Amino acid sequence: MEVKDKIVIVTGAGSGIGAATAKHFAKHQAKVVISDIREDKAQEIADEINKDGGEGVVIAANVAKFDEVEQLVSKTISRYGRLDVLVNNAGVGPKNIVRTAEYTLEDWDNVIAVNQTGVFYGMKLALKQMAKQKSGNIVNIASLAGLKASINNLSYCASKFAVVGMTKSAALEYASKNIRINAVCPGYTESPLLDKLLSVRSDMDQRLKSMIPMNRYGQVEEIAEAVVWLASDSTKFITGQTITLDGGISL
Ligand SMILES: NC(=O)c1ccc[n+]([C@@H]2O[C@H](COP(=O)([O-])OP(=O)(O)OC[C@H]3O[C@@H](n4cnc5c(N)ncnc54)[C@H](O)[C@@H]3O)[C@@H](O)[C@H]2O)c1
Repeated sequence: MEVKDKIVIVTGAGSGIGAATAKHFAKHQAKVVISDIREDKAQEIADEINKDGGEGVVIAANVAKFDEVEQLVSKTISRYGRLDVLVNNAGVGPKNIVRTAEYTLEDWDNVIAVNQTGVFYGMKLALKQMAKQKSGNIVNIASLAGLKASINNLSYCASKFAVVGMTKSAALEYASKNIRINAVCPGYTESPLLDKLLSVRSDMDQRLKSMIPMNRYGQVEEIAEAVVWLASDSTKFITGQTITLDGGISL
């Protein structure tokens, strides 16, 4: 997987899938900008990468705020002169797991702002630079919930369907410009986000696992592997696709 010396931004890289992705890029000798709303957590991941001989710098940003994403991209360009890869990974779930009629406006607005509008901001700003440099690659972290219906999860599901739609539409616009855009759709993957879902009911772990043909959750490193592969030169003819890693649940 060739990503050596590529300049990569990973959002939400202070935890879970984003942290594993940042580390995997660094292992393959990419230069990684570790971004998160939580600067302290991003710094921990950068320290780990740098200790292991990789290159990771922290630029904190809340992806739901346009000016912060603008700063993230412009600071990356000032430092490195270009942006080769953007991984739009930052994401949140709703606080309340309830049906649509009971859904709170807060859970709607917050999830859409981070998961959907945040991805739009990232793509808009990165694509401006990538079009200028005539190359680039974006990997959006969608979800199984962006491909099929889920219950008690309306804003999350809406936001992830939107990520898949934005991925395909923007990929079509930029295919002739040497810019590829793909999405990864993880199923249930062990991370603090999954822990929150498991804490909702005592039998949740058993219920979820019983739906997964492989009878286990995904590991963050497994998702990271697919992200780096899509961003690498091994996949030069792939654009506008969703890669599902879900232990067979979508079957
Ligand atoms: N874990 C799963 O089962 C699963 C399944 C499908 C999709 N996903 C998606 O994968 C992505 C990563 O999820 P995860 O499981 O690693 O979650 P996580 O909670 O472990 O990590 C999410 C990170 O995003 C950061 N973040 C939250 N809001 C932010 C904001 N506004 N701006 C910048 N950073 C912000 C958090 O601080 C955290 O470090 C998300 O987009 C999530 O929807 C996860």
